[in-house]
Amino acid sequence: MKIFLDTANLDELTLAASFGVVDGVTTNPSLIAREGRSNEDQIRAITEIIDGDISAEVVSTEAEEMIREGRILAAIHPNVVVKCPLIPEGIKATKALSSEGIRVNVTLCFSATQALLAAKAGAYIISPFMGRLDDISIDGTELIREIVAIYENYDFQTQVLAASIRGPLQVKDVALAGSHIATMPAKVFHQLFKHPLTDIGLEQFLADYRKTLAEVSAG
Ligand code: E4P
Repeated sequence: MKIFLDTANLDELTLAASFGVVDGVTTNPSLIAREGRSNEDQIRAITEIIDGDISAEVVSTEAEEMIREGRILAAIHPNVVVKCPLIPEGIKATKALSSEGIRVNVTLCFSATQALLAAKAGAYIISPFMGRLDDISIDGTELIREIVAIYENYDFQTQVLAASIRGPLQVKDVALAGSHIATMPAKVFHQLFKHPLTDIGLEQFLADYRKTLAEVSAG
Protein backbone atom coordinates (compact mmCIF):
# COMPACT_ATOMS: atom_id res chain seq x y z
CA MET A 1 0.00 0.00 0.00
CA LYS A 2 1.28 3.45 -0.90
CA ILE A 3 1.57 6.02 1.89
CA PHE A 4 0.57 9.59 1.09
CA LEU A 5 0.87 12.58 3.43
CA ASP A 6 -2.35 14.56 3.90
CA THR A 7 -0.79 17.98 4.42
CA ALA A 8 0.40 21.03 2.51
CA ASN A 9 2.91 22.00 5.19
CA LEU A 10 6.44 22.09 3.76
CA ASP A 11 8.22 21.37 7.07
CA GLU A 12 6.04 18.32 7.73
CA LEU A 13 6.64 17.09 4.18
CA THR A 14 10.41 17.64 4.33
CA LEU A 15 10.71 15.65 7.56
CA ALA A 16 8.43 12.82 6.36
CA ALA A 17 10.26 12.60 3.01
CA SER A 18 13.56 12.00 4.80
CA PHE A 19 12.45 8.47 5.78
CA GLY A 20 12.13 7.42 2.13
CA VAL A 21 8.73 5.74 2.49
CA VAL A 22 6.32 8.50 1.46
CA ASP A 23 4.85 7.96 -2.01
CA GLY A 24 2.78 11.09 -2.52
CA VAL A 25 0.77 13.98 -1.10
CA THR A 26 -2.87 14.96 -0.94
CA THR A 27 -3.97 18.55 -0.46
CA ASN A 28 -7.37 20.21 -0.35
CA PRO A 29 -8.49 23.85 -0.13
CA SER A 30 -8.63 23.68 3.70
CA LEU A 31 -5.04 22.37 3.97
CA ILE A 32 -3.75 24.96 1.46
CA ALA A 33 -5.55 27.79 3.33
CA ARG A 34 -3.55 26.99 6.49
CA GLU A 35 -0.26 27.69 4.67
CA GLY A 36 -1.04 31.27 3.57
CA ARG A 37 0.05 30.94 -0.07
CA SER A 38 -1.79 30.45 -3.35
CA ASN A 39 -2.73 26.91 -4.38
CA GLU A 40 -0.36 27.04 -7.35
CA ASP A 41 2.65 28.34 -5.39
CA GLN A 42 2.18 25.82 -2.60
CA ILE A 43 1.73 22.89 -4.99
CA ARG A 44 4.86 23.93 -6.90
CA ALA A 45 6.84 24.00 -3.64
CA ILE A 46 5.52 20.55 -2.67
CA THR A 47 6.66 19.07 -5.99
CA GLU A 48 10.20 20.10 -5.05
CA ILE A 49 10.04 18.04 -1.83
CA ILE A 50 8.11 14.89 -2.73
CA ASP A 51 8.74 12.89 -5.88
CA GLY A 52 5.33 11.26 -6.30
CA ASP A 53 1.69 12.00 -7.03
CA ILE A 54 0.62 15.39 -5.61
CA SER A 55 -3.13 15.98 -5.56
CA ALA A 56 -4.28 19.57 -6.09
CA GLU A 57 -7.97 20.39 -5.87
CA VAL A 58 -10.14 22.56 -8.13
CA VAL A 59 -12.49 24.98 -6.40
CA SER A 60 -15.15 25.47 -9.08
CA THR A 61 -18.43 23.58 -9.06
CA GLU A 62 -19.20 23.82 -12.75
CA ALA A 63 -17.61 21.35 -15.19
CA GLU A 64 -16.26 23.81 -17.78
CA GLU A 65 -14.55 25.85 -15.07
CA MET A 66 -13.20 22.71 -13.33
CA ILE A 67 -11.69 21.59 -16.63
CA ARG A 68 -10.04 24.99 -17.11
CA GLU A 69 -8.69 24.96 -13.54
CA GLY A 70 -7.62 21.33 -13.88
CA ARG A 71 -5.54 22.09 -16.97
CA ILE A 72 -3.77 24.93 -15.13
CA LEU A 73 -3.02 22.74 -12.09
CA ALA A 74 -1.81 19.83 -14.24
CA ALA A 75 0.59 22.19 -16.07
CA ILE A 76 2.42 23.00 -12.79
CA HIS A 77 4.30 19.69 -12.76
CA PRO A 78 3.93 16.21 -14.33
CA ASN A 79 3.33 14.73 -10.85
CA VAL A 80 0.23 16.83 -10.22
CA VAL A 81 -3.05 14.89 -10.01
CA VAL A 82 -6.15 17.09 -10.32
CA LYS A 83 -8.77 16.62 -7.62
CA CYS A 84 -12.42 17.00 -8.61
CA PRO A 85 -15.36 16.65 -6.20
CA LEU A 86 -17.79 13.79 -6.58
CA ILE A 87 -20.75 15.83 -7.81
CA PRO A 88 -22.35 15.39 -11.27
CA GLU A 89 -20.32 18.31 -12.69
CA GLY A 90 -17.17 16.81 -11.17
CA ILE A 91 -17.78 13.51 -12.91
CA LYS A 92 -18.26 15.38 -16.21
CA ALA A 93 -14.97 17.20 -15.63
CA THR A 94 -13.25 13.93 -14.68
CA LYS A 95 -14.33 12.33 -17.93
CA ALA A 96 -13.08 15.31 -19.97
CA LEU A 97 -9.76 15.73 -18.15
CA SER A 98 -9.04 11.97 -18.16
CA SER A 99 -9.74 11.88 -21.91
CA GLU A 100 -7.01 14.54 -22.31
CA GLY A 101 -4.56 12.38 -20.35
CA ILE A 102 -4.80 14.47 -17.18
CA ARG A 103 -4.91 12.25 -14.08
CA VAL A 104 -7.86 12.91 -11.79
CA ASN A 105 -8.41 12.11 -8.11
CA VAL A 106 -12.15 12.14 -7.45
CA THR A 107 -12.66 13.39 -3.92
CA LEU A 108 -15.45 13.55 -1.33
CA CYS A 109 -16.60 9.99 -2.07
CA PHE A 110 -18.86 8.44 0.55
CA SER A 111 -20.51 5.52 -1.25
CA ALA A 112 -19.64 2.56 -3.47
CA THR A 113 -21.98 3.69 -6.23
CA GLN A 114 -20.27 7.09 -6.33
CA ALA A 115 -16.95 5.23 -6.67
CA LEU A 116 -18.37 3.20 -9.56
CA LEU A 117 -19.24 6.41 -11.43
CA ALA A 118 -15.77 7.84 -10.82
CA ALA A 119 -14.10 4.72 -12.22
CA LYS A 120 -16.38 4.76 -15.27
CA ALA A 121 -15.38 8.41 -15.87
CA GLY A 122 -11.72 7.32 -15.97
CA ALA A 123 -10.56 8.51 -12.55
CA TYR A 124 -6.93 7.74 -11.72
CA ILE A 125 -7.74 7.77 -7.99
CA ILE A 126 -10.95 7.60 -5.95
CA SER A 127 -10.86 9.12 -2.45
CA PRO A 128 -13.41 7.61 -0.07
CA PHE A 129 -13.35 9.68 3.15
CA MET A 130 -13.42 6.67 5.45
CA GLY A 131 -12.47 8.67 8.56
CA ARG A 132 -15.40 11.06 8.20
CA LEU A 133 -17.70 8.00 8.01
CA ASP A 134 -16.12 6.49 11.14
CA ASP A 135 -16.61 9.93 12.77
CA ILE A 136 -20.39 9.45 12.45
CA SER A 137 -20.37 5.74 13.42
CA ILE A 138 -20.57 4.39 9.87
CA ASP A 139 -17.96 1.74 9.05
CA GLY A 140 -15.49 3.49 6.73
CA THR A 141 -13.31 0.42 6.31
CA GLU A 142 -16.31 -1.49 4.95
CA LEU A 143 -16.69 1.16 2.25
CA ILE A 144 -13.03 0.69 1.25
CA ARG A 145 -13.58 -3.10 1.11
CA GLU A 146 -16.66 -2.68 -1.11
CA ILE A 147 -14.96 -0.32 -3.56
CA VAL A 148 -11.88 -2.56 -3.84
CA ALA A 149 -14.16 -5.55 -4.56
CA ILE A 150 -16.19 -3.70 -7.18
CA TYR A 151 -13.08 -2.43 -8.95
CA GLU A 152 -11.61 -5.95 -8.95
CA ASN A 153 -14.87 -7.43 -10.31
CA TYR A 154 -14.70 -5.20 -13.37
CA ASP A 155 -10.96 -4.72 -13.66
CA PHE A 156 -11.09 -0.94 -13.18
CA GLN A 157 -7.60 0.54 -12.95
CA THR A 158 -8.71 3.39 -10.63
CA GLN A 159 -6.72 3.31 -7.39
CA VAL A 160 -8.55 3.41 -4.06
CA LEU A 161 -7.15 6.05 -1.71
CA ALA A 162 -8.42 5.83 1.88
CA ALA A 163 -8.78 9.44 3.06
CA SER A 164 -9.49 11.40 6.23
CA ILE A 165 -7.57 8.89 8.32
CA ARG A 166 -7.47 9.73 12.03
CA GLY A 167 -5.11 7.11 13.52
CA PRO A 168 -2.81 4.10 12.98
CA LEU A 169 -5.55 1.51 13.49
CA GLN A 170 -7.39 2.85 10.46
CA VAL A 171 -4.16 2.57 8.45
CA LYS A 172 -3.97 -1.13 9.35
CA ASP A 173 -7.67 -1.65 8.63
CA VAL A 174 -7.55 -0.11 5.15
CA ALA A 175 -4.35 -2.02 4.32
CA LEU A 176 -6.15 -5.26 5.23
CA ALA A 177 -9.14 -4.13 3.15
CA GLY A 178 -6.88 -3.86 0.09
CA SER A 179 -6.72 -0.09 -0.30
CA HIS A 180 -4.03 0.89 -2.83
CA ILE A 181 -3.17 4.10 -0.99
CA ALA A 182 -3.76 5.60 2.46
CA THR A 183 -3.33 9.31 3.02
CA MET A 184 -2.73 10.51 6.55
CA PRO A 185 -1.74 13.59 8.57
CA ALA A 186 1.96 13.81 9.53
CA LYS A 187 1.07 12.98 13.15
CA VAL A 188 -0.44 9.62 12.14
CA PHE A 189 2.53 8.87 9.87
CA HIS A 190 4.92 9.27 12.81
CA GLN A 191 2.67 7.14 15.04
CA LEU A 192 3.12 4.24 12.59
CA PHE A 193 6.75 3.86 13.71
CA LYS A 194 6.00 3.62 17.40
CA HIS A 195 5.77 0.59 19.67
CA PRO A 196 6.73 0.72 23.37
CA LEU A 197 8.31 -2.76 23.19
CA THR A 198 10.63 -1.56 20.40
CA ASP A 199 11.87 1.29 22.62
CA ILE A 200 12.21 -0.94 25.71
CA GLY A 201 13.95 -3.67 23.66
CA LEU A 202 16.42 -1.26 22.11
CA GLU A 203 17.19 0.35 25.46
CA GLN A 204 17.97 -3.11 26.91
CA PHE A 205 20.17 -4.14 23.94
CA LEU A 206 22.19 -0.92 24.19
CA ALA A 207 22.54 -1.21 27.97
CA ASP A 208 23.82 -4.79 27.61
CA TYR A 209 26.20 -3.71 24.87
CA ARG A 210 27.61 -0.87 27.01
CA LYS A 211 27.98 -3.25 30.00
CA THR A 212 29.89 -5.83 27.91
CA LEU A 213 32.06 -3.10 26.41
CA ALA A 214 32.90 -1.79 29.90
CA GLU A 215 33.77 -5.33 31.08
CA VAL A 216 35.96 -6.03 28.03
CA SER A 217 37.75 -2.67 28.41
CA ALA A 218 38.36 -3.37 32.10
CA GLY A 219 40.10 -6.62 31.05
C1 E4P B 1 -7.67 13.89 1.32
O1 E4P B 1 -7.58 13.80 0.14
C2 E4P B 1 -8.79 14.56 1.99
O2 E4P B 1 -8.96 15.84 1.51
C3 E4P B 1 -8.54 14.55 3.46
O3 E4P B 1 -8.09 13.27 3.85
C4 E4P B 1 -9.73 14.98 4.28
O4 E4P B 1 -9.43 14.81 5.63
P1 E4P B 1 -10.27 15.49 6.82
O5 E4P B 1 -11.55 14.72 6.94
O6 E4P B 1 -9.39 15.34 8.01
O7 E4P B 1 -10.50 16.91 6.42
